[in-house]
Amino acid sequence: MELFNENSKLAQVILKDHTLLPVINRLGLKLGFGDSTIQQLCKKEGIDVTFFVEIINVFHNENYFSEKKLLDFSVTTVIDYLLKTHRNYVDYVIPEQERLIDLFLSNCTTGCKENELVRKFNKKFTEEFIKHIQLEEIEIFPYVINLNEVIGNPSKKAAFMDQYKNFTIKGFEKEHNNMDEKMFDLKNIIIKYLQPNYDQNIGNSLLSNLFIFEKDLKNHSRIEDKILVPKVKQLEKIVKKDE
Ligand SMILES: [Fe+2]
Ligand SMILES: [Fe+2]
Repeated sequence: MELFNENSKLAQVILKDHTLLPVINRLGLKLGFGDSTIQQLCKKEGIDVTFFVEIINVFHNENYFSEKKLLDFSVTTVIDYLLKTHRNYVDYVIPEQERLIDLFLSNCTTGCKENELVRKFNKKFTEEFIKHIQLEEIEIFPYVINLNEVIGNPSKKAAFMDQYKNFTIKGFEKEHNNMDEKMFDLKNIIIKYLQPNYDQNIGNSLLSNLFIFEKDLKNHSRIEDKILVPKVKQLEKIVKKDE
């Protein structure tokens, strides 16, 4: 399994796996890497280099997941990354998906009877996706940040316990569904059931986007399930041990 490290030159990393570009942007680096190594670029931008390397390896290699290493990062680092990812999805990835779907469907001139079906599935996906993100941002992440603050400042514990009397991360763990599975349905309709009178080039661009988004979502969920949830369980144990 090929893994990158802090001495890898970032331009070389991208030449090997260009799907890492959005991940690298979210982590805080922009194009124009020159011959600099990850270490040099992260230092210049004040980015935690170990976190950077771990995240790109998680995305690059499906079998790589160093839970031990990732569990060392603070919850604020993890949540900051997850929030940036949500912003990128909402501000760019979803609108781009809508744009490509519109372009794809509007280029079908005759016998386009699957248009409505594709629109329906895409609408369903987007609505559920926005709900998913809102739940995390409005309920889950603030809980985790408050919980984490109690560790640093025990005087906040009483107010925290009051506010979150019956709340634990277990509920989220159980309910947290995989958005990438919903994406699978949308892809499947386009691949299997469309008539051949759609523009194939636009269709290919649309599908490439959907595949990249699906992979991104899978890794995003892995970070939430395998890093955030176990970390929060550790914190809950400390904060709630005398309750
Ligand atoms: Fe999320
Ligand atoms: Fe999620």
